[in-house]
Amino acid sequence: MFNFHKDHKNLVNTALSGFVFLSIIVAVLPAYQLQDVEPLPKQPELTEEALKGLNVFISEGCVACHTQQVRNIEMDKIWGARPSIPSDYYYSKQRLDVWRQSPSLLGSERTGPDLTNIGKRQPGQQWHLLHLYNPRSVVSVSIMPAYPWLFEEKDTISIREDDIIVPVGPNFYNKAGKKIVAKEEALQLVAYLQSLKQPEIQGEIPIDFIPAAKKKREKGNAEQASNSLPDGQQLYMQTCSACHQENGQGLVGAFPPLAGSAVVQDENPELLIKIILQGYDARSEYAQMPPFADQLTDAEIAAIANHERSSWGNDAPPISEEEVKKIRAFVTQLN
Ligand code: HEC
Ligand code: HEC
Repeated sequence: MFNFHKDHKNLVNTALSGFVFLSIIVAVLPAYQLQDVEPLPKQPELTEEALKGLNVFISEGCVACHTQQVRNIEMDKIWGARPSIPSDYYYSKQRLDVWRQSPSLLGSERTGPDLTNIGKRQPGQQWHLLHLYNPRSVVSVSIMPAYPWLFEEKDTISIREDDIIVPVGPNFYNKAGKKIVAKEEALQLVAYLQSLKQPEIQGEIPIDFIPAAKKKREKGNAEQASNSLPDGQQLYMQTCSACHQENGQGLVGAFPPLAGSAVVQDENPELLIKIILQGYDARSEYAQMPPFADQLTDAEIAAIANHERSSWGNDAPPISEEEVKKIRAFVTQLN
């Protein structure tokens, strides 16, 4: 009956039904399911600037090395508080322009870290600008390419008030009377990176990393609860070392050293805790430090502070979660 050599109608019909069947499975059904995807309650829309930054992200090909998907396996736990869900990509419904929908930049290569939560992990605008101008200027062993065409060189006298100067250290840029200034594209790209925050899910987390990892984490949490503070060194590496560096030496012209710092070692930890909570922009020779009040709990701040107070030759008495709590309450009351 199915003699394709003799009956061409049979041939066309079989091929056509195969095509229709596969189209329904790989295109129509998924598109249909996607109609139910709702934005998460705490998920802001991309601002106009961030949307332009998404365009820069696409045209520069950042997706070649960076994913934006937290998988539900244990090794992805460091990239987000939970695995990604379809609603995380809701912004893709905001169009790039009339012709193009915003793509979900899931990516498939992780040559560099996943960027799902980079806006929380690395909130500082100046850090991102330095990193894009030359990744080696903040991460000495980085293999990420530099994007100098997102910046321009300007004579100090022709710099306008609203120009954003990038505090590149003398090892990476050193021309008398000139400064590196961020172009619009660089600022848009950074606005996009800063907007990448994994939204919280209200109430009970309906999804989690694979059960084995969950069990281990529950055990870990129980241990932690009975055993005071979390691991300050690990938190320092995740949150502070990108700027102040692993060895606490900072970077000339951008980030001050914490090794030997009087603020870090002060008997009274008030200023140190305030700096972590509120950020810091006191001296013109350094960049700005972003605030961490929303990212870190009291216990985490105490653990980081204690790591800083007892490392790299620093020697100051430890502080407790309670002390951080008091200073946070005081600071929030003022605002
Ligand atoms: C050839 C691969 C490659 C490309 C292309 C690339 N990156 Fe990276 N990126 C890396 C690597 C490797 C790291 C880790 C080392 C570092 O922090 O510099 C990284 C780190 C980062 C970080 C810091 C992540 C963190 O967790 O601290 C950000 C932000 C970032 N890249 C953004 C970008 C943007 C934006 C682009 C496009 C303009 C881009 N990258 C293009 C490889 C790449
Ligand atoms: C995006 C870069 C960046 C990150 C991340 C960062 N800092 Fe800073 N930090 C700075 C800059 C810049 C200054 C100096 C600001 C100034 O003096 O104007 C600073 C200053 C400080 C100071 C004051 C040091 C002194 O001797 O005056 C302390 C303490 C400090 N940071 C602690 C931390 C801790 C703890 C973390 C992690 C929770 C952290 N920083 C994360 C950029 C950063």
